[in-house]
Amino acid sequence: MIERVAKPLAGFLNWLAGLLDAIYRALGRPGKLLQDLLNGTWLGHSLHAVLVDVVVGGATAVVFLDVLRVVFGVTGTEDAGTWVLALTYAAGVGAILSGWTDFKDTASGNERNVVGLHGIINAVGFAGFGFSLFQRLQGNPDAAFWPMLIGYAIISVGAYIGGHVVFKYGYMVNRNAFNRGKRAKEFTAVAPLADVPDGAATQVTFGTTKVVLVRRGDVVHALKDTCSHAGGPLSQGELGDGTITCPWHGSVFRLRDGGVVHGPAASRQVTYRTRIADGQVELQGPHD
Ligand code: FES
Repeated sequence: MIERVAKPLAGFLNWLAGLLDAIYRALGRPGKLLQDLLNGTWLGHSLHAVLVDVVVGGATAVVFLDVLRVVFGVTGTEDAGTWVLALTYAAGVGAILSGWTDFKDTASGNERNVVGLHGIINAVGFAGFGFSLFQRLQGNPDAAFWPMLIGYAIISVGAYIGGHVVFKYGYMVNRNAFNRGKRAKEFTAVAPLADVPDGAATQVTFGTTKVVLVRRGDVVHALKDTCSHAGGPLSQGELGDGTITCPWHGSVFRLRDGGVVHGPAASRQVTYRTRIADGQVELQGPHD
């Protein structure tokens, strides 16, 4: 049902994703660093999830304080409610910025539509928080009650849809989290060295796992081919100075250890130990 509700938004959301991408590209390197900050590349997982915890927890506390005051007549909670809502609002601004930054790199279709619906609903609920905060700062705590409660109800719906897109689509989840495979102790030949051109990305299979090899002279780097962000094929990516860039959304990984140089990926890429023996490239590491 959520997908049906979100579908009519597809045209607008595709346009919006393109616009956000164009803005980040126009900002150049500062834009890339801002995107890394907001995606949570530096944190090791989504920054949005962290900020949303503050928003939901803070809003719940404010509603609780308001109900104590309005329904049960408990006095002296006004200042606490204002301060907690101010914190909630600040975290909410960060959650909106990080959320729409994550959104621009969604797969078009149901995933993007549902993420967009989540963002729009939460933006509406957040406006209720803003109006409530304004009333509190004006010294009108009673006028702040209903906008807060309505905003909280709307945000709860948005949060449910946010959970839906994570649990159903694996949105912003490490794509390599569940298929670590067996970690064989022995090295296994995956390709003759002669078939691995120097300075290019070559896809091979290790068991049934796709792996990208990058040869630099006598050194061969091996990373899992499936990008940790959303599953893009790294073997079709661009090679840089010790890095490979995913062709789908531009995450940059270090060849040496799979570390994330730039997002939107936040999880390091699986790597394999390599050696050359009898003219063969051999790998050791987790594979299916
Ligand atoms: S799939 Fe998104 S950056 Fe690789």
